[in-house]
Order: sequence, then structure tokens, then C-alpha cells
Amino acid sequence: MSQLKSVFIVLAAITVFGCTTKKEEAAPAEGATVVEEKVAVVAEEPLKPLPELGELDMKKVALGRKLFHDTVLSGDGTLACSTCHTLDHGGAEPRKTSTGIRGQIGPINSPTVLNSSLNFVQFWDGRAKDLREQAEGPVANPIEMGATWEGVVKRLKGNDKYVAEFAALYEDGITKSNVTDAIAVYEEALITPSRFDKYLMGDQNAITEAEKKGYETFKAVGCPTCHNGVLIGGGMFQKMGLVNDYFKDRGTEVTEADLGRFNVSKNLAEKHFFKVPTLRNVALTPPYLHDGSRATLEETVLVMGKYQLGRELNEAEVNSIVAFLKSLTGELPPYARLPGT
Ligand code: HEC
Ligand code: HEC
Repeated sequence: MSQLKSVFIVLAAITVFGCTTKKEEAAPAEGATVVEEKVAVVAEEPLKPLPELGELDMKKVALGRKLFHDTVLSGDGTLACSTCHTLDHGGAEPRKTSTGIRGQIGPINSPTVLNSSLNFVQFWDGRAKDLREQAEGPVANPIEMGATWEGVVKRLKGNDKYVAEFAALYEDGITKSNVTDAIAVYEEALITPSRFDKYLMGDQNAITEAEKKGYETFKAVGCPTCHNGVLIGGGMFQKMGLVNDYFKDRGTEVTEADLGRFNVSKNLAEKHFFKVPTLRNVALTPPYLHDGSRATLEETVLVMGKYQLGRELNEAEVNSIVAFLKSLTGELPPYARLPGT
């Protein structure tokens, strides 16, 4: 290994394992080797541990949290963001597709908001570039929250507590962009490290033997081609039915929502392309896929094998992969929930 490269690795080691720097100072040679090995392991893996959160503006997080759970954002005061992104359901919803204002059934399953700031784009079809842009969407969507931003800002301005809280944080007080900013700051704070992250960082005992075996199966059959990086997904668009025709076999009519990325790019080559979803917390978020058509992880893994990889996975492989997927369930940070809930 060139000297430059090893310097880089040690530097990277210090950044990644910030907590071990002190030890290294005490015993540089020994400490450095251990850390170097750990980083080498992490560097080779297609899956990456979650980054540490920077310093949080807890006042903004609290304001965003309140807005996220407040039905004032919907046209008739019946729906909050949390209605379709429930913390008790892994940040998603226990329905096939969303039910919006006045019981209207939406076209697509709601993805999780947990760790969503790490997605390369937002929505299944990537039509929003980030969380701020994303949060504008559901409020004004006639079949989601069915409100107008003018109406939302007016209602918030009629609430003395909100007026004071916004005034303390934003020079121009209550505006659409400050509302979406506060919500985005809250969402950015919803990072959920799991036992698997500890394992990736070198703690061999953080996951069970069955989960380790499952991770090996996950890699051996090729899942990380699409589900990789810190989100184990969230980094690219891919065709649903890459190897076999999923929509032909599904047996229900192809909807506009099924066209995925094509709806945004109008590029026929991107028909049925979706953002590869994160697999973090996936055990908590049934039903699965953009159409909410699969009720269990086992079924979904079988579908992935057949349509994305052209492999008929056997029962042992499926169960092994599902065991691994369960190790991706993370811990909600303590400030995620509204006080008293
Ligand atoms: C009526 C149910 C419903 C409500 C209310 C709702 N959402 Fe969603 N949310 C969805 C659905 C469905 C999608 C996926 C839509 C799509 O991709 O076309 C989604 C997507 C998202 C995403 C993108 C996640 C990803 O992986 O791409 C985020 C972030 C999000 N919503 C946050 C919010 C916030 C913030 C609010 C409140 C301002 C909100 N949602 C209100 C149902 C809802
Ligand atoms: C060629 C890319 C690709 C490969 C390979 C792939 N997936 Fe996927 N995966 C996707 C896409 C795209 C979706 C979303 C499809 C949809 O919703 O219609 C998805 C969805 C999922 C979901 C559902 C997540 C949710 O929240 O609904 C699970 C679970 C999953 N994949 C697991 C796996 C496993 C396990 C493997 C390996 C056996 C695998 N995937 C291989 C691209 C891929």
C-alpha cells in the first residue's frame, strides 16, 4: 500500500471512529492497526453505516415535529403528515395505498420518512429534489391533505403559539418556506442507527449468526446491486421488473403510478423505474412495494429474486435474507415523538 493511501486510511479512520482517537494517541501503533482493519472492512462492504448527526437546532426540530403531527396542515383539519407516516409503523403506513382527505384512496404506498434525508431524491419517481421541496407537495395535493398554502399560513398565523415559535426562529415569521424548512429539519433528525450499523463498524456481536448468514446470502444473490450505501437503497432509480415482467404477472391493470420515473422524465426507457427504496426499518413497514401489493417481507423478497434478479430463491434463502433485514430495524431518537406520546 502506498504511503499516501495509508495516511488517507488513518485519516478516514479518525473521522469514522472519532471516538477512538484518544486511545490512538495513547498507543499509536497498536490503536492504528486495529482501526485500520476496521475501516478496511467497512470500505469493502457495499452497505455503509449511517453518518453521525451534526449538531441539531432542537427548537427547530421541536417546531417541525409539532407541524408534522398537526392536522392544521390539511384542508379540513383531519390529516397530519403523521397520519400517513406513523412513527409506530416505521415512518410509513399500514395501508396498501394512502387514504387522503375525505377518504380518497391515493395511487401509491407511502414510503418511510425515517432517514429520508439521505435519499438521493424524494418520492418513488424522484419528482422532488429534497425534503423542503417534498413537503410542499402533500399539503396542496387535492387527494392528500387538500389544503392551500395560503390557507395553511393563515391558520398558523391565527395561532399565538405558532406565531411566537416562528418569530423566535425565523426573521420573516410564518411563511410556506419556513414551514417546510422546520418540517425538513425535523425529518433530517429522524436518523435510526441499528444493530447492523454496529456490526459494520466492527462489533462482531451486534448481530446474530443467523443475521450474519442472511447478510452473506443478501450479498451472494446480488441484492446490493441496487440496495447499497448508507440507506441500503435510496441512491438510484431502477426498473421494477428488470429481468421478468412484473406488471404482466401482477394481474391488475397498470396504473399511471406504475409508470414511475416515466411520469417525470417522459423518457420511455424509464417506464416502471422507481427509486430503489431504503431497506432500513423495512420489517416495520408492511405492506410493500410502490403498489402495496405484498403483505410480508417473505413474499417481497421472493418477488425481488424473481423480477429483479431472475432467481427463484428457495425457502431457506428467503428466510435467511428476512432474518438479516430485521437487523436493519433501528432506534428512533428520543426527540422523535411529541412529548407525552
Ligand atoms: C394522505 C397520506 C399522506 C400524507 C398526509 C402525507 N404523506 Fe408523505 N407520502 C405519502 C405517499 C403516498 C408518498 C409517496 C408518493 C409518491 O412517491 O408519489 C409520500 C412520500 C413522502 C416522502 C418521500 C419519501 C421517499 O422515500 O421518497 C416524504 C419525505 C414525505 N412523504 C413526508 C411527508 C410530510 C412532511 C408530510 C406532511 C407535510 C406528508 N408526507 C404527508 C403519503 C402521505
Ligand atoms: C435491479 C435492482 C434491484 C435488485 C437487484 C433488488 N431490488 Fe429490491 N427493490 C428494487 C426496486 C426498484 C424496488 C421498488 C419496487 C416497487 O416498489 O415496485 C425494490 C423494493 C424492495 C423491497 C420493498 C421495500 C418497501 O419498502 O416496499 C424489498 C424488501 C426489497 N426490494 C428487497 C430486496 C432484496 C432482499 C433483494 C435481493 C434478493 C432485492 N431487493 C434486489 C430494486 C432492486
